[in-house]
Formats: sequence, structure tokens, C-alpha cells
Amino acid sequence: MAKIAVLTGGGDCPGLNAVIRAVVKSAYQYGMEVIGIRDGFRGAVEGDFIPLGIQDVSGILPRGGTILGTTNRDNPFAYRGADGSKTAEDRSPVVLANLEQAGVDALIVIGGDGSLKIALEFSSLGLKVVGIPKTIDNDLMATDQTFGFQTAVATAQEALDRLHSTAESHHRVMILEVMGRYAGWIALYAGVTGGADVILIPEIPYQLHKVALAVEERAKRGKKFSIIVVAEGAHPEGGEMVVERTFENRPEPVKLGGIGAKLGQDLESRNGVETRVTVLGHLQRGGSPVTYDRLLASRYGVAAVDAVLEEDFGTMVALQGKEIVRMSLAEAVNKLKQVPPTDPVLLVARNLGIEMGD
Ligand code: F6P
Repeated sequence: MAKIAVLTGGGDCPGLNAVIRAVVKSAYQYGMEVIGIRDGFRGAVEGDFIPLGIQDVSGILPRGGTILGTTNRDNPFAYRGADGSKTAEDRSPVVLANLEQAGVDALIVIGGDGSLKIALEFSSLGLKVVGIPKTIDNDLMATDQTFGFQTAVATAQEALDRLHSTAESHHRVMILEVMGRYAGWIALYAGVTGGADVILIPEIPYQLHKVALAVEERAKRGKKFSIIVVAEGAHPEGGEMVVERTFENRPEPVKLGGIGAKLGQDLESRNGVETRVTVLGHLQRGGSPVTYDRLLASRYGVAAVDAVLEEDFGTMVALQGKEIVRMSLAEAVNKLKQVPPTDPVLLVARNLGIEMGD
């Protein structure tokens, strides 16, 4: 193996640069060359490649985002061009030709479920691919943890710390809406570590009267403020998730958002306590990765190069317990990891008396 190409796909995530750096540094140890593909699979279709030498990754370990750029739009198997307006075409042969022309022996795809599915399709066409799981949502079944998750939780927890002071001073209910798509990991971990009184997650449909009661009971105990964390995918029992917008022709056609505002209105009209809503949004995806994510990202990058070296293709690296393992991409994709009823952190939340809305 002489030349590896690497790309980042899907939403950005703290730790992407740490992975890119680890891939380049580790490949360098083995005398392998690395090139970067810009803006995910768009760059693979357009042949937008850049050399990635040791100097190019110097100093990027603490940086958020990705030096390669990313997109959650472009699927080479249904490609619509940069403006997204054309009819979908299968441009996978172009990708294969571009990589061959650039002398690429193996491709490392750093992405969430959508990008890893594309990686799997290329693998079945004979491309030598290794995947690295990425998402702040931590919702991939194949791995105990994705890098970026801990940083997102730390950001949400800090927001909760800040909201506490205002909530207490003004005797208000403060609602923090966090990301996570169809999984409540960010809300659960941030809620427990940020001292939330109520945590609402998609896995546990909530009953408004339970949430209202938790706020009222706190007030009776002299605590005239309450802190609620709500995951963007949370919804009332018998109700729907709140969709902020929909997209045509995208791998992920739905963007969730707005449950915080709905809950705030419902709660205020029910118990009359002044309520404010903060939507943390993309702040959760930005900034420097925390120690845990830098370490996990570095381990993933090194492990992916090991997989290339051992010619173990069609695989994804994953964290299981303390070990980084390899599993087939086919086994890894399409499996959503939600918070199970027996999750230890969920049980801690319940034993702390945090209202989960059920
Ligand atoms: O998957 C990561 C994530 O940040 C989700 O938590 C969120 O629902 C979504 O991406 C937002 O996507 P976009 O960047 O397209 O707004």
C-alpha cells in the first residue's frame, strides 16, 4: 500500500481534524502517502484532491471542524452537482476513475451512517475502503462511543451551568433544546452532569402533566426555578417529533427542531410559570475537542491505517469496551443506537430523582 485517500463526510464534529492528523502521521510512519479529498464525496466526484503531508496536519489537533471540508448533500450514487438542481446521476464510476488516476490504493471514510453507507456501496464495487465512525449524536450501534459526543455534552453541560444562574435569579423555568436526532444521548449525559431537573428524550415520550408536576413540586420545596433539557427528537406521548425543515434529495431529508418552544408554550399556559427557551444548535458541533475525543479520534485514525496496512478492507473501526476493534461495514451501518430502558446513566438519572416525563 503506497497511497491512502481520506475524506470527511456528513455534519462536522469536534475531533475530525484529530483523526485526519492521526491518519497522516501514522501513514507517514509506514512510508505511505496520504491525499485529502475536499468536501466529502463531492470532492471524490469532482477530483478535488490535495496532498496531505506531515506539515499540512501540524497544529490541527485542537482545531474544530475539518480542514478537508465536508457536506451532507452529495451522494455519488445519486449525484446532483454542486447546486443540487440536476437530476440524480450515478457518478460512482467517475469516483473510481478519479481515485485510480490519482494512484489511490485505499480510501478512509470518516463519517456518520450516511457516509458509511456510501463507503459500503463503494466497497461492494471493489474499492478498498476503511470507515471511521463520527457523530456528536453517539447513535451508531456498532461503537460504544463516537468521537465528538463528549465535546458536545461538555458544551451542553456548560450551557446548563449558565442557565442555572439566570433561572435562579428570575425564578424561571429554563428549557435547553439540544441535538441528537433520534437518540437522547446528549440530552441524558448533559442533563445528568448539568444538574437538570427534567430530561426529555425521544426514547421516552413525555406526559406534559408529569413535567408540570415536577416544576410545581420543586416550587413547593422552595425551589422557584427549574431546568429542563429536551432532546430535539423528544415528543409528547401520542404526539409527533417537531420538524424544523425538510430537504428534497438529501440522504437525511428531515431536520428536527422546535420541541423546546412547543414545550415552553405548553408548560407556561399550564402552570403560569415564566419560561424561556434556549436552542443550543450548532454550538454543540463547534470548537476544540475535549481530551476524551482527541484520544478516541487519534486511536481511530491509527487503527484505520493499521487496517489498510493489513489489507482488512470493507471494515469500520469501532470502540468496544476499552479496545478498538474492526467490524464489517455491512454489519455496522443502518443500526441506530438509542438509549435503552436499562442504560446505566438513565438509571442514575432516575435514582437522582430527575423527571424523565413518563
Ligand atoms: O447528526 C449531527 C447533527 O448535528 C444532529 O444532531 C442534528 O439533528 C443535525 O446534525 C443537524 O444537521 P444540519 O447541520 O444539517 O443542520
